[in-house]
Amino acid sequence: MIVDSLLQRLPKPVRQSVDEFTEAAQVAAHIRDPRVLRSLGPSAARGLLLKRGKQGVPNQMHSGHTAHFDWTYPHDNPEMAMLYKRAKQGQWDADDLPWHIDVDPENPEVPLLPESFFNIELAEKYAGKLSPKERTRFIHSMSAWMLSQFLHGEQGALMASAQVTEAVRFFDGKLYGATQVMDEARHVEVYLRYLESKLGRLYQVNDNLFTIIDAVMTDSRWDMKFLGMQIMVEGLALGAFSTLHNVTAEPLLKELLKMVIRDEARHVHYGVVALQQHITGELSESERNEREDWAFEVSMLMRNRFMMYEVYDEWFSHCMTRAQWRECVLAAPGLELFRSRMFSRLVPNLRDIGLLSERIMPAYESVGLMRYFDGASARELDEDTLLAA
Ligand SMILES: [Fe+2]
Ligand SMILES: [Fe+2]
Repeated sequence: MIVDSLLQRLPKPVRQSVDEFTEAAQVAAHIRDPRVLRSLGPSAARGLLLKRGKQGVPNQMHSGHTAHFDWTYPHDNPEMAMLYKRAKQGQWDADDLPWHIDVDPENPEVPLLPESFFNIELAEKYAGKLSPKERTRFIHSMSAWMLSQFLHGEQGALMASAQVTEAVRFFDGKLYGATQVMDEARHVEVYLRYLESKLGRLYQVNDNLFTIIDAVMTDSRWDMKFLGMQIMVEGLALGAFSTLHNVTAEPLLKELLKMVIRDEARHVHYGVVALQQHITGELSESERNEREDWAFEVSMLMRNRFMMYEVYDEWFSHCMTRAQWRECVLAAPGLELFRSRMFSRLVPNLRDIGLLSERIMPAYESVGLMRYFDGASARELDEDTLLAA
């Protein structure tokens, strides 16, 4: 409270910088395991403080992983071989989506997102009344922000799936992995095309998403790449995509998301199969604990910190504080549904791969995520269930 009132007295640009720095410091202060801090700290500095994803220039991320060759070509994992077969049969061409549909992002008759998705009334308390036109423009901004983050996540998935295809030890996994690289390229294609040709805008990468992608790309350990991308980012994306699929009234977006969700279901399934054996059978207790802590910290990054500041900067930075904006985001019913759906997908997967032991359960309990513990993991969910959920 005292900090808040002090912040209010500072000039606005200074106040904003202090708030950003405080948030970054909170991320670092939260991390207890020094190994996790070593892994996430440099990425958090690049993402949250230096804002490397927002400089308007390409980023170089050094990856020191090892390419794993096997000249005996073992048939070493029937479940991955089955996923490879399903992936070959499930390939689709982005050109076949109904791109002829005329999308008007500001048409209230066919909303990209329902107005109830965000708590606009709370935002109006701080910012003053929005006209009906401003409301639809705001929904347009929020939808474009979400889809932009999906696109940025897909670029991360494209690079990470190429890396894990090189690094994975299962030969059946390499063949499967090649199909995922193609899937992710298609996902980049469809989200970019939708944003460019239908919504007419593209938001910069969110600092927290950049941090997670940077950490995954620069960690040379193959299982950390799997954990970060195949379980955490993909698992959360699957929840986010299915929420949006269920609430949007725009038919092209609905069809696009349906096709992407079908692919993503295979990707998370692959991550669970690849990691379960490795984490529960091959790692030492200390190594497993490190991964368990890392997964919890990344969960927190995702749960608390996708605050849509890029939308705030565009709409409300002149009339409300970042703290007031956070209050609006946390009170938004649709975003709460997003978070709930995302973690109902993620937590059972962490359980199945052995990263939700009794040691870490109190931490998940303290942030209200243990209620998802008994849910179905990616292995038990087929595409139709995911689409219906
Ligand atoms: Fe994808
Ligand atoms: Fe994926």
